[in-house]
Parts: sequence; C-alpha cells; structure tokens
Amino acid sequence: MSLDLQLSGKAAIVTGGSAGIGLATVKALYREGVRVAIAARDPERLDKAVSSIQAQPTLGGEVIAISADLTQASDIDKVVSTTLERFGQIDILINNAGSARAGAFLELSDEAFLDAWNLKLLGYIRLVKAVVPHQIKRRDGRIVNIVGGAGRTPRPNFLAGGTTNAALLNFTRGVSKELALHNIRINAISPGLTATERANSLAEQNAQARGVSVEEVKAESIKAIPLGKIVQPDEIAALALFLVSDLASSITGAEIHVDGGQTPGV
Ligand SMILES: NC(=O)c1ccc[n+]([C@@H]2O[C@H](COP(=O)([O-])OP(=O)(O)OC[C@H]3O[C@@H](n4cnc5c(N)ncnc54)[C@H](OP(=O)(O)O)[C@@H]3O)[C@@H](O)[C@H]2O)c1
Repeated sequence: MSLDLQLSGKAAIVTGGSAGIGLATVKALYREGVRVAIAARDPERLDKAVSSIQAQPTLGGEVIAISADLTQASDIDKVVSTTLERFGQIDILINNAGSARAGAFLELSDEAFLDAWNLKLLGYIRLVKAVVPHQIKRRDGRIVNIVGGAGRTPRPNFLAGGTTNAALLNFTRGVSKELALHNIRINAISPGLTATERANSLAEQNAQARGVSVEEVKAESIKAIPLGKIVQPDEIAALALFLVSDLASSITGAEIHVDGGQTPGV
C-alpha cells in the first residue's frame, strides 16, 4: 500500500494561513501540488507568508492570499468567491483562524466571549455553509476544523476559547451526518500546546492572570504533557493532509488529539 496522498491539482482554502498551524498546513498542501487560498487580516504578513510558501518545491501548487476579517460574514463570502474565481472549485477547507483571549473568569468581559465565538465558532460555521453547496455539486468535499483540547477538557483561565471549542466539537460531529450523504467529510483536529506565536501570547496572558512569570507557565505546561514536549505545527499539518486525502475516506465526524498524550479521560 502506498501513502501517496494524491492531492495534486485540488483546491483549498486555509483560514489563518499566514502564521502558525495554518501556515504549516498551507506549506504542506502546496508541496503536495494543491492550489491554496490563504485568508487572514494583515496584508503584510500574508505577503511574507506567500513568499515563504513559494520558496518551497511543489508538484504544481499555487497560492493566493486574500486579506479578510473572518468575523465578518461579507469577508467570508469574499474568500469563497475569490477562490472559486481563481481555482474554479474548493475541494478542501481548513478552518483554523482563532484567537480567544486567556484570563481569569471574573476579568473576562462579554466581548472576550463574543469575539472568540464570532471569529472561531461562527466563522467556521459560516465557512462550512458557504463552501458546502459547491462541494455538494461535485459530490466531494474534505473539511478539517482545527479545534483544541480545551473543548473536551475545560481549563481555568481559558473559558472563552474552551466554550468555543466545545461548541465546535458538537458542530463537527453533528453536521458530519448531514454532509456524509453528499460524500463530504468533516473532522476535527485538537492540538495540544503547539509552538506558535499564539501559544506565546496565551502564556503571557495566563502568567498575568495568575501573577506568575511566563517561564513558570511554560515550564508547568510542558511538565503536564506526558511525552514532555510541545507539538510542532508541522505535526498538525501532517494529520490535516492525511484527513483530507482519500486515505481517510471512511473517517468523518472524528476528533483527533495531537497533544503528547495530555488529554485525560477516554
Ligand atoms: N497554538 C496552540 O497551542 C493551539 C492549541 C490548541 C488549538 N489551537 C488552535 O489552532 C488554531 C491556530 O492557532 P495558531 O496557534 O496557529 O495561531 P496564530 O499563530 O496566532 O495564527 C493565527 C492566524 O489566524 C489569523 N487570524 C486571527 N484573527 C483573524 C481574523 N479575525 N480574521 C482572519 N484571520 C485571523 C492570523 O492572521 P491575522 O492576525 O493577520 O489576521 C494568523 O494567520 C486556532 O484556532 C487555535 O485556537 C492552537
């Protein structure tokens, strides 16, 4: 049996593709020959990301950048229509843009919750809704939602992100049954602590909420991981590629943890 992913020529949208897990996933898709649209807000960061992606070898991949604020429904429509204009199809959607704030519950404003739900929960749902009609026409679709361990295992000081992730697990499993009728698969990857800019800023916010140093927070976090190491963005990307390939053609509605064994319970 070959592990050839056979993704060359497919078209994808990756949200939050200009940094961290999203950027690693775009690079991996591009190397496989996928035509990728990346959506994020900061145009300069998008330009830098495009250059770093195009510096890699590819089997016919392309990349375009779309500056968009995914808290806005109109920007989501723009991302989908621009991708369709350019590539003519959307086989793959990687929902990844998220940025919940950490902080003690009593310090978290309504806005902290609303911002997290708007960007990640509603943003992912809106993108699925916008992409799926095109995938139904072609009877083929592959969607991965990057969620996070706090969806299943609530963490103090991270309730805006945790409630978002819990709702997304419910959404992913629930909608998978409807989409399966059209040969569209949707799965969740829940990363543990992963080496990105976001992980650094969360450690800073956590340290502030608890009145301890950032180094202490980081050391505690690593100690709590059975495999004793932080996840690398490339590891999430590798699993995302497997899930959107035909090698995973019977996997849908699943949540897969990439967390060094940290998730307790079954
Ligand atoms: N890193 C971890 O330890 C970890 C653990 C569990 C789950 N996750 C999840 O994994 C996903 C990616 O995290 P990451 O650590 O790779 O994050 P990151 O390094 O902070 O990158 C976030 C990406 O999302 C984009 N983004 C943020 N707000 C946006 C908005 N309103 N509209 C459009 N794009 C936006 C950012 O670009 P702009 O700022 O330019 O828009 C950037 O490209 C998130 O959903 C996160 O919750 C991460």
